[in-house]
Amino acid sequence: AVMAASFVQAAELTEAVIKQALSEAYQKYRTLDEGKNADYIPALAKVDSDIYGIVLVTTDGKVYTQGDIKSEVSIQSISKVFTMALVMDQDGTQELVENMGVDATGQVFNSIVAIEQYQGAEMNPLVNAGAITTTSLVDGKDYEEIWGKIAREYDEFAGRELTVLEDVYKSEAATNQRNRAIASLMHAYGHIDDNFLRATDIYTRQCSVGVNARDLGIMAATLANAGKNPVTDQQVTSAKNVPEILAVMATAGLYDDAGKWLYKTGLPAKSGVGGGIIAVSPGKFGIAVISPPLDAAGNSVRAQKAIADISNALGGNPY
Ligand code: DON
Repeated sequence: AVMAASFVQAAELTEAVIKQALSEAYQKYRTLDEGKNADYIPALAKVDSDIYGIVLVTTDGKVYTQGDIKSEVSIQSISKVFTMALVMDQDGTQELVENMGVDATGQVFNSIVAIEQYQGAEMNPLVNAGAITTTSLVDGKDYEEIWGKIAREYDEFAGRELTVLEDVYKSEAATNQRNRAIASLMHAYGHIDDNFLRATDIYTRQCSVGVNARDLGIMAATLANAGKNPVTDQQVTSAKNVPEILAVMATAGLYDDAGKWLYKTGLPAKSGVGGGIIAVSPGKFGIAVISPPLDAAGNSVRAQKAIADISNALGGNPY
């Protein structure tokens, strides 16, 4: 019976069914008026709130799109996933487990209380403290070399050369005192070495990389396809790391709302305050939506709704 059920699902994932699911979700949430752009990074408040694009990429490399797939927003916290992949390829997966851990904090993404609770352990690479620490672990003799590795990793996941949105970078660099405090604490507790301010700056730069919905869809599909970009056919990250990356996304990808999200969709996902969310149906597809207005947890309102509808229509929930 289990075999039969999965055959039925596979047969249902036809082009017509996918197109229909995208088009319905796009229309349904187009006029939704909920949430608001992030404004604690001043440049993000100025981004057009009406940008709305959906991209689904199957593991055989077919790209389906709806709406705005050209406008770029800053990748923000979605970047954390790809720096995590880079460090796992460099050092193995245990390094991150031993440093900041792979547990949910139940707190907001930039929580200082969560650091204090276990002195910077028992958290994960997707909250700010863990992510800045992860960035600090990328090997390189100087800023340029470290940045080059991070940028190349993201380019390979997306299958094209991405660029930093300098206005976003400057805006966040001028206002990231809280992240600098987080990095100082992670240094004080022995998780980051003396270069904690450089790590914060590189992290700020990685968060400012510009992506459109198509880029994010391909990045998500690379994770759905065991680390091999299904459009370029390049093995970007080791297949053996992918289950662990997806586990952390399922645990903490939508921060303090990760439980609710998993309950509704079953999908490992990652949000960013630029308005993007990626989600992964392992072996089937990656999906991304960009729409800047966010809810109180810092997750795009339209993106959550559209992805949940589409995945549920396509049998994306692995549970
Ligand atoms: O560090 C920050 O606050 C931002 N660069 C990224 C935060 C973020 O995207 C949280 N996600 N929903």
